[in-house]
Amino acid sequence: MENKIKKVAILTNGGDAPGLNAVIRAIVKTARTNGVECYGFIEGYKGLLNNNYVKLDLQTNASGLLIKGGTIIGTSNNTNVFNYKVVNEDGTVEYKDLSDVCVQNIKDDGFDCLFTLGGDGTQKSSRDFSLKGVKCIGVPKTIDNDVAHTDQTFGFDTAVSVAAEALDRIHTTAESHHRVMVVEVMGRYAGWLALESAIAGGADVALIPEIPYDINSVINKINERRSRGKEFSIIVVSEGAKPKDGDITIKATLDQGAGLDNIRLGGIGDKLSNDIERLTGYTSRNTTLGYVQRGGTPSAYDRILSTKYGCKAMELALEGIFNVLVTYKDGKMSYVSLEDVVGANKVVGAASGNTKESNIRKVPMDCDLIKIARDLGMSLGD
Ligand code: F6P
Repeated sequence: MENKIKKVAILTNGGDAPGLNAVIRAIVKTARTNGVECYGFIEGYKGLLNNNYVKLDLQTNASGLLIKGGTIIGTSNNTNVFNYKVVNEDGTVEYKDLSDVCVQNIKDDGFDCLFTLGGDGTQKSSRDFSLKGVKCIGVPKTIDNDVAHTDQTFGFDTAVSVAAEALDRIHTTAESHHRVMVVEVMGRYAGWLALESAIAGGADVALIPEIPYDINSVINKINERRSRGKEFSIIVVSEGAKPKDGDITIKATLDQGAGLDNIRLGGIGDKLSNDIERLTGYTSRNTTLGYVQRGGTPSAYDRILSTKYGCKAMELALEGIFNVLVTYKDGKMSYVSLEDVVGANKVVGAASGNTKESNIRKVPMDCDLIKIARDLGMSLGD
């Protein structure tokens, strides 16, 4: 049977994650096997708006991608073309819906399908474009592991490994100095990265957004260890964690909240470390891991997962299944509708993020990770 699909485009949007290039490679290779031409929009939705794209060619630009960090076609972080910041000549700022320009670009260029590689914000726009008639297939990327309906996003495994290695190093210096060492990890409003890093790195305390913490409970854990002769403690704190009587720590709000990913978290590690010093008199230091968690080469696991995601995405396009997110569920590749992915966040152009409508996957209290953390005697701050 002849393919209905002839020409497809990929975009990578939001914060980068290890495995993006491996997904691109898998899509391009599966496309070649099936006689489909592949293109990449430059810098995510921004490239779609500016109609800026390149042909992805396995002989030249799309070669050697399996192990390469970042994304060869670039990404943009808080571009919301449905509510796009335009600075007029007189310096005034307006927010405009420019999505029709993008839709026209796709029509004019003759793309039969758009692959959107990104997290919840990217998939929200993907669903919004699907309502405008664009044939979209999403692929769930993020080190935060918080995309709804999939058990694991690509990039997460690498980020956990990086954090675990950092924790190994923090361990020896903590022990030598008898310090309370805090390590702040990313993860936005979900605690997957903090919890898995803490378990992999043998931390004593893990603080995650899903469980607002009581500082006294953290201090009790430190003291309990000291009473057993352990004069150091390791605390992993998620950037989105907050105390019971306080709020999340925000570094910056971008574009007056109009972007897709407009709130930059960060600073809870320093706050926690200062609070511990003030309340106990013990020496405490914070290390914020930051962008090392999402840079560099993907782990072997992420290379395989990314390849599965990329091949499956192109297979779905060949089967004529659109407006879906590729998922990895119960050990199998599958898909769900983009409508299900956005959940209650129905308004076209609305931002994703920490609103009651946003549909991200948080750590459920009955999951194995929570149980084993407690089995190990790890404090979760409650
Ligand atoms: O979503 C991925 C992520 O790395 C989060 O863990 C973090 O909060 C955010 O991106 C940082 O984004 P930015 O690149 O805008 O600083």
